[in-house]
Formats: sequence, structure tokens, C-alpha cells
Amino acid sequence: MRFLTLPALATLIVSVQNASASFVNSTACVDVHFVLARGTTESYPGSTYSLASQVAQNTTLRTNYENIIYPAVSEDSSDSYFIGRAAVGRQVTAYARDCPQSQIVILSYSQGTLIVGDALAGGGGNSTLGKPTQPLISRDVGKQITANVFYGNPRHIAQQPYDFGTTGVKLVEGKYPRLAYQVRTFNERYSEIPGDWCNVGDGVCSPSEGANALNLHMAYAKDYDTVAADWVLQKINAAHSR
Ligand SMILES: *[C@@H]1O[C@H](CO)[C@@H](O)[C@H](O)[C@H]1NC(C)=O
Ligand SMILES: *[C@@H]1O[C@H](CO)[C@@H](O)[C@H](O)[C@H]1NC(C)=O
Ligand SMILES: *[C@@H]1O[C@H](CO)[C@@H](O)[C@H](O)[C@H]1NC(C)=O
Repeated sequence: MRFLTLPALATLIVSVQNASASFVNSTACVDVHFVLARGTTESYPGSTYSLASQVAQNTTLRTNYENIIYPAVSEDSSDSYFIGRAAVGRQVTAYARDCPQSQIVILSYSQGTLIVGDALAGGGGNSTLGKPTQPLISRDVGKQITANVFYGNPRHIAQQPYDFGTTGVKLVEGKYPRLAYQVRTFNERYSEIPGDWCNVGDGVCSPSEGANALNLHMAYAKDYDTVAADWVLQKINAAHSR
């Protein structure tokens, strides 16, 4: 067929409008609330939005999303990391308090993973990131988080069951590897929910490889959204049927 008939075209337009209208930036209580933390220099909502909307369009559960509000400029030369880490703690805790029945799914990229992971597990421990700190998200709030995706995580740690990505991903460590007590806290509280996708050679999640390839750091949505969306859907469906 060379062109769509008019009724088919109308259906297509309606379904596209419905899809976009049903996935909005909101903190209203829904079945599954996405929290998106963008990477350095990205504008809102950032590159994890495509993953979130792919999940939202493939579930009958009610969904919406919010952005972590923080500067997302280089953590080397600004307060961005500190502001972001505090914002993750505050925003996730506030949503959990207001919506105790909702699932929370956190999707983050690059500096976004740094502030999310450190709010969950404790942060700092590097001259750039300040002294070691305790988690900002309590165990109780943490129980509402049913999936957590990291793309290009500077806290990437080798040999974790949730390390996904290219060959060798379980052998490399990020720019700011999570400290031992942070790994312990993260794994004690969150062993079931993380997926940490790293392209080996990405200078953020595996600088030891030396390649420091920016194209690999920019490729996560394209490389992994399909597989990560399926993975998140399994997590939220399992949690919903509990
Ligand atoms: C999303 O919604 C919040 C709350 O209404 C608002 O503060 C924020 O500016 C919105 N962000 C974007 C990028 O739309
Ligand atoms: C639903 O998921 C499939 C497979 O993961 C994907 O190809 C498709 O694009 C998704 N649908 C939408 C509307 O995003
Ligand atoms: C902090 O991280 C940077 C970037 O990886 C690294 O060059 C530096 O050695 C680290 N500093 C400390 C004190 O660990």
C-alpha cells in the first residue's frame, strides 16, 4: 500500500496524541512513577525519557514522571553534584510519602546516576565529591523503588550481578568507583532492582580501558532502550502482582 487511507491516518494521529497525553510530567499518585535524572549538559527531561516512555506505552498501568531538578553542569567546577544528590533524596522521599501505594522507577544517565546512586547508597569519598556521606533515602522509602536503571555510571563497580552492557563490563570500574561501604549499603538494600548498563571504553563508567570514547557514552538510549524497557516491564509487573 502506497499511502494510508484517511480513517487509518486519523487512527494513527489519535493514538499518537493519546500516547503523549497519557505520559506527563506530574507528581500525582499513579501505579508507576518514573523519576528521571539527566546527564551533564542535557536539557530536561534528558536521554532516559525515551526509555521511560517506551515502558509507559507498553503497560496498562497508570504512569507519569518527574525530573530531578538540578543544574547538571560539570561536577568538577560547580555544586551540581551536591544540589542534585540532595534533590534526589528530597524528591523521591516526598513522592513516597505522598503516594505510599505507588511504585517508583528511577532512570538516570551519567551525572544523573552519580546523584541517584549516592542518594541511595551514600556518596562522596573523592576530593571532587566531598567526604563520605550516608544514604539520603531511607530503607522504607527504598522499598517503593521497584526498578533502577543506570546508563553510563561513573560509580560503576566490577563483578556485580546487575552489571550489563558490552563484553568485559564485569571487569571495569567507573571514574569514581563506589567505596566498599557504599557497595555494601547499595547491595544490602537494592540487590533486586538495579540494572547498570556500561559500554566498555566509555570514559565515564570504564576509564581504565583508556579508550575514553565519547561516542560510547552517548549511545546508551540507542543501544539499550529496547532491552532495558523489557527489563523494567518485568520488574514493575512482578511488583504489581505481589
Ligand atoms: C515538571 O514539573 C515540575 C512541577 O510542576 C516543574 O517544576 C518542572 O519545571 C517541570 N519540568 C519540566 C522540564 O517540564
Ligand atoms: C513496546 O516494546 C516493543 C518491544 O520492546 C518496542 O519495539 C515498541 O517500540 C514498544 N512500543 C512503544 C509504543 O514504545
Ligand atoms: C577522584 O576522582 C578523580 C577522577 O577519577 C581521580 O582522578 C582522583 O584521583 C580521585 N581522587 C581521590 C582522592 O580519590
